[in-house]
Parts: sequence; structure tokens; C-alpha cells
Amino acid sequence: MTQDSQIVSVDLDAPTHDLDRLIGSLETGSVLHVPTLPFQLTPDERASLDPAHAVKGRKNISLPPAGTALIGVEPADPAHATLLGLVTRYANAARLWIDTLFPHYRAHLIAAPTSLRLHRVETRHTSWRKDDSRLHVDAFPSRPNQGERILRVFMNINPHGEPRVWRVGEDFETVARRFLPRLPRQWPGSAALFNALGITKRRRSRYDHIMMHLHDAMKADMAYQRSCAQITLPFAPGAGWICFSDQASHAVMSGQFMLEQTFFLQPQDMAEPERAPLAILQRLAGRSLI
Ligand code: SIN
Ligand code: FE
Repeated sequence: MTQDSQIVSVDLDAPTHDLDRLIGSLETGSVLHVPTLPFQLTPDERASLDPAHAVKGRKNISLPPAGTALIGVEPADPAHATLLGLVTRYANAARLWIDTLFPHYRAHLIAAPTSLRLHRVETRHTSWRKDDSRLHVDAFPSRPNQGERILRVFMNINPHGEPRVWRVGEDFETVARRFLPRLPRQWPGSAALFNALGITKRRRSRYDHIMMHLHDAMKADMAYQRSCAQITLPFAPGAGWICFSDQASHAVMSGQFMLEQTFFLQPQDMAEPERAPLAILQRLAGRSLI
């Protein structure tokens, strides 16, 4: 395991892991880089990596937990079965890697979707708010999570040798201290109203309000995007990387073909809940946020 500020390199095959140190790195917001994941594509799977299989207008192909059909590929598409097999295999493999590296979480991980991204990053044109080439922490506007952690396992499966290039920014508390004073306040009653109107799937807590506005404020500030402390990381084909994406400031600059598995985790089930964005924000705000 080698440490380079926000990035920690992990060898999944090493006979002994320093698991306490590893979970410490993950929970303090590092991105764990696994240079070679033990996961290979079959020739059929490789041949099916083509954006033509993605339903038009969709960013991701996804598989709900224990799902039996992909969302974002027509059921009649001849590649559906092959791609479903690939995504299902990845979901199972990612669970195994997380169970191996973080036994502390094993009993507490909450299943979440697996996704397959076939589109090229550089040619995607979207609004600034959806532009993931700007540094951000993940927050979902329609899915308030009241402090729940977002743990993600990514893998570059590009068959043409192309890296997936990420930027990783400064640590969460530094980001929060910079942006918190500028965030708009949540007006009274809005959480209940959004919930009643069906805009949000659960009540939007003060935590969710802050996380969503933090995501937006980071992306909206182009001077910050250029000048904050950051590193650029090319993830080679076959490599994986793992992070709490609600905590690690990240952006994707280029690449094509990726698998991603999300897990949710309650902050109280972390090795040290005090490291969660919820705890950090509550300490900075001086009050409860859920
Ligand atoms: C993101 O989570 O911001 C996108 C990551 C990626 O597409 O590599
Ligand atoms: Fe993101």
C-alpha cells in the first residue's frame, strides 16, 4: 500500500492487507486505486461494448440490486443477455472485493444499483450542473439520503488501451470550510413541500440541502475548478478504484467504457462515524443537520 496524498494504491492479491489502515484511508476520503482487478471480460462481452446498445438519451445502463433485466438496453437487443451477464458478474465481484477489504462493513452494506457506462466522456454535452468533468462530491437531488454514505467501486474496461482520467481534489473538510459560508439557506417548510409534491423520494434534511448546494457551488466556481489543490490520475484498463464519492472531490476528464457498483452505508456503521461528511458538517455548522 503506497500513499500519495488523496490516492492510496492497493494490491487485492497481497496475502496480508493492513485493513485498519485501509479503512482509515477510505473513511478519510482517499481514492483507493487497485491497479489490476481480478476481473476479465469474455470475447463476447468485449464485442458488446458499443454505445449503440444504450437506449438513446440515457447516460448509464443500470441493474437494480438482484435485478434480472438491464435498464437502458432494449430487452430485444441481441446484446442484452451478454451485457446483463457482464453487469451481474461485476456486481457479485465488487461485493466480494468490498467484503474482503472492509469486513467491518459486511453486515451493513445496503444494495444499490450497478452501472455500465458505454459513452465517451469527452463528447458528452450537458448542463454545468450535470457536468462531471467539474470537481464535485456526489449528491442526488431526487434521492435525499440523510447522511447515508455512497461507496463506489469503479472499473475501467476499455478494450483499446485507453485510460479513464480523473481529477481528485482537496479533502472534504477543506472543501466544506470554503463553500459553507456561501451556501443558500434552506427555507422553512421546503423539505416537507418537496416531499409532498413528490420531487424528492424522502424528506430532504438540512444535510441533503447542504450536500446538494455544495455539489452545485463547486461545479459553478470555475476559478475554484482551475486553482484548487488537485491531482490528475489516469486509470488504466483493468484498473479499479474505490471511494466514498460523497466525500472524495472528483471529476472525470476522459475515457470510455466503465463498470461501477454503488453501495450505501449508514454513517454509524463506519469504523469511525466522526469521519463522515455528516459529522464534519455538523461540527462546522454547530448543530444537528438531520
Ligand atoms: C462521477 O461519478 O462523477 C463520474 C465518474 C466517471 O464517469 O468516471
Ligand atoms: Fe460524481
